[in-house]
Amino acid sequence: MIDHATVFLSLKPEELKILRAVENGMKTHEWVAVEDMASYTGLSEKEIEYRLRNLTGLDLLERFTGHYVGYQLKYNGYDILAISAFVRRDTINSLGSLIGVGKESVIIGAMSPGGRPLAIKFHREGRTAFKQVKRKREHLVDLHNTNWLYASSLAAKHEFEVLKKLYPAVSVPEPFDQNRHAIVMSVAEGHDLSRAKVEDAEWYLDRIVEQLELAYRNGYVHGDFSEYNVMVSETGVTIIDWPQAVAAGTKIGDELLARDVHNIFTYFARKYRIRRDEIEMVKKIKDSA
Ligand SMILES: Nc1ncnc2c1ncn2[C@@H]1O[C@H](COP(=O)(O)OP(=O)(O)OP(=O)(O)O)[C@@H](O)[C@H]1O
Ligand SMILES: [Mg+2]
Repeated sequence: MIDHATVFLSLKPEELKILRAVENGMKTHEWVAVEDMASYTGLSEKEIEYRLRNLTGLDLLERFTGHYVGYQLKYNGYDILAISAFVRRDTINSLGSLIGVGKESVIIGAMSPGGRPLAIKFHREGRTAFKQVKRKREHLVDLHNTNWLYASSLAAKHEFEVLKKLYPAVSVPEPFDQNRHAIVMSVAEGHDLSRAKVEDAEWYLDRIVEQLELAYRNGYVHGDFSEYNVMVSETGVTIIDWPQAVAAGTKIGDELLARDVHNIFTYFARKYRIRRDEIEMVKKIKDSA
């Protein structure tokens, strides 16, 4: 992976312009030609050719040679455009180190101008995730030029909206900003539940179930819940990773709630020998709403 801070700081304004031109060109073309970048940026083709060598060298763009030469953004390039937007809007003023890598995301530390530590989550939707998004959002089928750029930005938008609805009633990271495929949020305290060995497991399980219930009452089922999406600290729990959330009280919501409860109960049964009744818990959560 690239060092986002170093790469971002090394870029010239013209290079950011070219990245934006490629992003724009990808709305209509799979591979964007240099002449399209020239008309979008107002830069000469000669200058663009020269800067493109740097941008591909930095792993921000991919070059394709076929019946014509074209360029595509890579995820790294898309990350840089989102970072640039967050800096321009004063959401962040510096980048930190890598916080986590998920199956479908990269999380990097950052700092607000006021000195508050933040986490930026860059969504990286794979093809399967895109199919799920597509299934959930029927209108996508009508768009002929759907691609990973669009799929990952939809996931980020959805996660950001869910966090805004849940925070602060539910213990989730505080959402600050969203751009393209990225969201800026507070850093959750503590450690991943999956890698921790907690002293008072009964107490933590109570706190987790409490948050699932609060989320339900505030309109959402997590939908991808497991020990991997819980952070634990001495004072409590934070539930992360919400892009798959669905509305509570729907058929799919009820199915996913049962699965969410099953996943976490199975984990506590296996690791801590705690047995609880899943069906009863699902009923209790639904009745609380
Ligand atoms: N706000 C945050 N504060 C601190 N750490 C975080 C935060 N968000 C994510 N992380 C860390 O990054 C990891 C991956 O984040 P997240 O679960 O949101 O991504 P994902 O790609 O959807 O993960 P998964 O592999 O579960 O699909 C988390 O397990 C956690 O360790
Ligand atoms: Mg996760």
